[in-house]
Amino acid sequence: MSTFRAYRINQTDGKITAGFEQLKLDALTAGEVVIKVLWSGINFKDALAASGRGKIVRQFPLNGGIDLSGVVMRSDDRRYREGDEVVVCSGGLSETADGGYAEVARVKAEHVVPLPRGLSLREAMIIGTAGYTAALAVARMEQNGQTQEHGKIIVTGATGGVGSVAINLLSSIGYEVVAFTGKSERHDYLRQLGAQHFIDRHRVEMGSRPLEKAEWGGAVDNAGGETLAWLTRSVKPRGNIASIGLVESHKLHTTVMPFILRGVSLLGINCLEVPFAQRDEIWARLGADWKPSELANMVSREVAFEKLADEFDAYFDGSHWGRTVVKIQQ
Ligand SMILES: NC(=O)c1ccc[n+]([C@@H]2O[C@H](COP(=O)([O-])OP(=O)(O)OC[C@H]3O[C@@H](n4cnc5c(N)ncnc54)[C@H](OP(=O)(O)O)[C@@H]3O)[C@@H](O)[C@H]2O)c1
Repeated sequence: MSTFRAYRINQTDGKITAGFEQLKLDALTAGEVVIKVLWSGINFKDALAASGRGKIVRQFPLNGGIDLSGVVMRSDDRRYREGDEVVVCSGGLSETADGGYAEVARVKAEHVVPLPRGLSLREAMIIGTAGYTAALAVARMEQNGQTQEHGKIIVTGATGGVGSVAINLLSSIGYEVVAFTGKSERHDYLRQLGAQHFIDRHRVEMGSRPLEKAEWGGAVDNAGGETLAWLTRSVKPRGNIASIGLVESHKLHTTVMPFILRGVSLLGINCLEVPFAQRDEIWARLGADWKPSELANMVSREVAFEKLADEFDAYFDGSHWGRTVVKIQQ
């Protein structure tokens, strides 16, 4: 392999540009493990990074793609050998290191996870950072005492990548799930994942009192902003809210009342800040008892690498749902 194809994000005069380039291995950021990338995926963060709408890439240029799965070509770390199937998610790819939108990646060994038993390389990318983070949120909620007896769990950003996996996982482990969504045309999809109730995010009445009627046993939130503020006001005593995303807003205006009068817990979820042992355990579960039963149905699009850039707009115009997987090469 002399050169390989990469989708590279650059910055010129403060403006973000992205496109395909032919690279040599020594152009990549440092790492012990060289991987032939077979699959990647698109997360909201990838769309932000490639379009320049979000400050994701912290050094330029970098290959895009926060996730990848593939086969080890070469490793200077004993834990990996040529031919091993591996996954890299939540390892700072496309932020501080070259990412998965390339036929070859070079990655720090500590960020590599052996492909979990029970998953194919493609399935691992259907899960991707989105699904891994959803599982992390559920694990954190349960560690903090969440049980099925607390009542319904509401999931915002329901049709998105994180939301889809969260709904499917929560439902399969016995929670009653409420999908908070802007897409009434996707109710059948959400029902298939396991949602039993629906709230239209365009019509919901959120109220403005420091404490509203306590309705939800807990919440997985991808929205932030007014939606998260409403969740703090409407989660039942001792319930957990996993704060994952900011698709609505990074702002949060609430009061301390839910925390000091209802004992509600707001759990910050950051997929990058996880001890490696816990990360590996969550991935192992995603291939076993927490493997999403509806994984195949979550794939809204499978795209060829060269068509990647056509997909990003859907993450901002509201048409995207589920997971998009990217076939980097055969
Ligand atoms: N903390 C972490 O470590 C971590 C890890 C992964 C992802 N994230 C964040 O989690 C969020 C979701 O990621 P994702 O990959 O699931 O994104 P995604 O696939 O683009 O899904 C986002 C979903 O949010 C809903 N939505 C869109 N615009 C909205 C708005 N203005 N107000 C409320 N809801 C809106 C839509 O679902 P409906 O139409 O069904 O409402 C959309 O499908 C993003 O903010 C992402 O950056 C954080």
